[in-house]
Amino acid sequence: MNFPTNVKHEKVRNWVAEMVALCKPDQVYWCDGSKTEYDRLCEEMVEAGTFIRLNPEKRPGCFLARSDPSDVARVEDRTFICSKSKVDAGPTNNWKDPKEMKEELIPLFDGCMKGRTMYVIPFSMGPIGSHISYIGIELTDSPYVVVNMHIMTRVSSKIWDVLGEDGEFVPALHSIGAPLEPGQKDVTWPCNPTTKYIVHFPEERLIWSYGSGYGGNALLGKKCFALRIAGVIAREQGWLAEHMLILGVEDPKGEKTYVAAAFPSACGKTNFAMLVPPPAFQEEGWKVTTVGDDIAWLKPGPDGRVYAINPEAGYFGVAPGTNFESNPNAMISCAKNTIFTNVALTDDGDVWWEGMTKTPPAHLIDWKGNDWTPETGQPAAHPNARFTAPAHQNPVIDSDWENPNGVLIEAFIFGGRRSTVVPLVYQAFNWTYGVYLAATMGSEMTAAAFGQVGKVRRDPFAMLPFAGYHMASYFNYWLRFGRQLAYPPRIFGVNWFRKDENGKFIWPGFGDNMRVLKWVVDRVKGHAPSSESPIGWMPRYEDLDWRGLDFSKEKFNELMAINRDQWVEEVMSHEELFAKLYDRLPKELIFIRELILSSLWRSPEKWQFQAEVAAVPGE
Ligand code: GTP
Ligand code: SPV
Ligand code: MN
Repeated sequence: MNFPTNVKHEKVRNWVAEMVALCKPDQVYWCDGSKTEYDRLCEEMVEAGTFIRLNPEKRPGCFLARSDPSDVARVEDRTFICSKSKVDAGPTNNWKDPKEMKEELIPLFDGCMKGRTMYVIPFSMGPIGSHISYIGIELTDSPYVVVNMHIMTRVSSKIWDVLGEDGEFVPALHSIGAPLEPGQKDVTWPCNPTTKYIVHFPEERLIWSYGSGYGGNALLGKKCFALRIAGVIAREQGWLAEHMLILGVEDPKGEKTYVAAAFPSACGKTNFAMLVPPPAFQEEGWKVTTVGDDIAWLKPGPDGRVYAINPEAGYFGVAPGTNFESNPNAMISCAKNTIFTNVALTDDGDVWWEGMTKTPPAHLIDWKGNDWTPETGQPAAHPNARFTAPAHQNPVIDSDWENPNGVLIEAFIFGGRRSTVVPLVYQAFNWTYGVYLAATMGSEMTAAAFGQVGKVRRDPFAMLPFAGYHMASYFNYWLRFGRQLAYPPRIFGVNWFRKDENGKFIWPGFGDNMRVLKWVVDRVKGHAPSSESPIGWMPRYEDLDWRGLDFSKEKFNELMAINRDQWVEEVMSHEELFAKLYDRLPKELIFIRELILSSLWRSPEKWQFQAEVAAVPGE
């Protein structure tokens, strides 16, 4: 083995040597994170047919990749937490004994990189050298992964100096699981169509991923490291690793408030993180800036407050639905130097996806590489098609987005996709109540995950697929985390997705979410009024800023209504999750549930701000 001279870390050297011996690549390449390296790999992928260079006039520096149709999203049913004890992984994770799992995987990894190059990627999650940052090393046989990691993380040969001889790092092994026999012709998206494993060994802080080249399955800094493994490290060290966007709100006086928000996959984090306030707000001086759109690492400061960094350096954003109205900042972010995966190709070498323009082009090449016309009857882009874009291209990137000390977080927002039951916004009565709200969050499933699209599933803290340990221990840890803070952030629930009887969204969403955000900020600062509902504090119609939007009080009250029977059913359905987690479920959550049930039973059948008080049932 030839090691670069600045790789002085014995554990790194031994691990790489061992993995080379196992995977048997034709060659080993040590990445330096340079532009030259990025350009060369892109060029090689264009030659191999993996990348299509887009029209440099329309999309300078951009490429399109089309994945194998079997490899289009994270594979939750193939994701494992291999802690020593099964109880530690908990009932919401797939588990296997670490020794047995390695015995199962070693034969797969044996020779899996034959005919290919192993790339050694040194990367930092978070600004290099920040006390909140953490180093990872990914070994992969996919050049697509290397260039995506260049955008999504900080890849640099400087990492070796930061690591020195004994610095801490997370080792992450990745193979697409498609060795090449001598003379065998490669395909444009090699992967293993039948065998996939996304495996975490939390005690060793080790990741092994096999068979997929797509997104969170393969860009191991993201979900595997920054959420599942970092979550385990965070619990030991007293911080949090969360599936949250971070945004800053600046009021007309220039006062800044940062909030972190957890929404499940494909439920609007990127949109909310880049929100464009309505014109009346902009004219007055309101600004929203982005720190991160997917992951937050949060640490308590010596002042008893919470500070957060975005460990990523880019956006791996959902393309369909993104347009200049819904999210102009995302459109600008992916205007250049971007890798598109599974979107459609236009005849003039640009990209298109459902929802980008009102009228689709007359002809496209779809995400499978076939001719497409509006009559085809199938989406031209895959619903989980994504763009990988550098964060610094976002025109509203926050000036402190790379501040090594993080930004002060004053509110947490949790929101799922619920067409019924859940109101637009409500504030938890206290921290424990907030943990309940987050723990019982439900969402209708999307294309980003394996499952039945549209069905409500409990997605606690938007972390169901990303918790590296027992979900109930995670709830407990959140309760403990709040208790040690002198100034815990306030906790809110939102739902942009409630629908009317015709199946149409009641709330306009997107930029208009600013109206909700403003109320949240005002609540945090202590100057917004609210009303007490059975499930939390809520704004009344007159508590929101309606300038520039024609939205009647009746409609708002409908959007905020608490239907008692529906809510009782909702709360009863939390029981299913609680029963599953029973052995470690914090008692607080059971009592909060009782409290909500009793306050619901003392409310009218339909609780609304203007409703007449009905008789208290059951007495
Ligand atoms: P991951 O990257 O998968 O973690 O997801 P994300 O939460 O960043 O997803 P993203 O922001 O890309 O979500 C996109 C989806 O949310 C699209 O279907 C959007 O149309 C929808 N969406 C975002 N904001 C709103 C909103 O305010 N109202 C409505 N109705 N839909 C929204
Ligand atoms: C998600 O599914 O929540 C994502 C995309 O952000 S991936 O990186 O593939 O996990
Ligand atoms: Mn995500």
